[in-house]
Amino acid sequence: MPGSVRPTHRKGTIMTSLSGITPSGRLTLGNHLGALRRFTDPDGFYFVANLHAMTTKHDPRRLAALTREFATLMLAAGVPEGTVFIQSDVPTHAQLAYLLECTSYVGELSRMIQYKEKGNRPMTRASLFTYPCLMAADILLYGAERVPVGGDQDQHVELARDIAIRFNREYGETFVVPQLNKAALATRVKDLANPTAKMSKSAADDAIGTIRLLDPPDVIRRQIMRAVTDSENEVRHDEANKPGVTNLLDILAACTDGDPVELAKSYASYGALKQDVADAVLAVIDPLQKEYARLTTDPGAIDHLLAQGRDRALDASTPCLQAATRAMGLAGSTP
Ligand code: TYM
Repeated sequence: MPGSVRPTHRKGTIMTSLSGITPSGRLTLGNHLGALRRFTDPDGFYFVANLHAMTTKHDPRRLAALTREFATLMLAAGVPEGTVFIQSDVPTHAQLAYLLECTSYVGELSRMIQYKEKGNRPMTRASLFTYPCLMAADILLYGAERVPVGGDQDQHVELARDIAIRFNREYGETFVVPQLNKAALATRVKDLANPTAKMSKSAADDAIGTIRLLDPPDVIRRQIMRAVTDSENEVRHDEANKPGVTNLLDILAACTDGDPVELAKSYASYGALKQDVADAVLAVIDPLQKEYARLTTDPGAIDHLLAQGRDRALDASTPCLQAATRAMGLAGSTP
């Protein structure tokens, strides 16, 4: 694998896929198309990144409820059994994160977009500054080479790469260096009401431009039919001049495995395009909602699956934490 280093304690493993989703709001269509539906590797590691949801003021009860909802949605979306877990159940993440904080620089962390946008004020939580080290730990613990994420996470994966390369150079070969995200369809689904901005789960709960995976189907259809377009009536894929129509075409392409530029040619009106986008989105969301409803009738089965995921993640991540601990000179001082 060009550009990747395979340290000795990871030898023999296959290309591992890993990703997480932060329970900081209701899960959206953007999260699903950009990330969740790509969590398909039965040997992968996919988690609810609840430790990442505390970098700004949070409500503990809402965090606990969203964590459970996200884990259930991941299972409902068909993420393979045994691969799903809750980050805080696996203490190796927080442990490695501290070691990585000790190898990261204030300069590189100050350049992270989230920190530049929301941080650098007296009451900013310290974790908003350091959480990119936690994300690097999430990735490096499992020797993950593939990290299926949307385009907004590229800077974080790049930092994880930089941290891994520097650690390996300074303390000896310890981490697999992850690859940069390969462009996939729908890596940046836009808000339907404001199509130059990303669709975001931190939007207000009643925001009309955000499609939430658990919204009732009639609400979702209405939101799509009301999506902002433009005053022409020509269906064309043109991000700079027609962001609304282009977003609808990208969503349609992602839901139907089509090509957005080709799809544009089959529409003569915005109304017809919106109808098809609504049908395609609901065809993706409907089975997920049905499976979610089925799973929630059996909380014990969800607990069992999450315990399985937790145990497997702990087993898989412990050797890497131990290797990093030793490499930094922490182990072996107690007789
Ligand atoms: P988060 O929770 O903000 O987003 C979860 C995933 O959804 C993708 N995404 C989108 N994709 C397409 N269009 C959109 N509008 C859109 N909005 C969000 C994100 O790119 C992401 O893949 N820090 C991460 C979670 C995390 C993580 C990790 C990811 C923690 N540790 C380790 C990968 C590996 C986050 O907050 O994502």
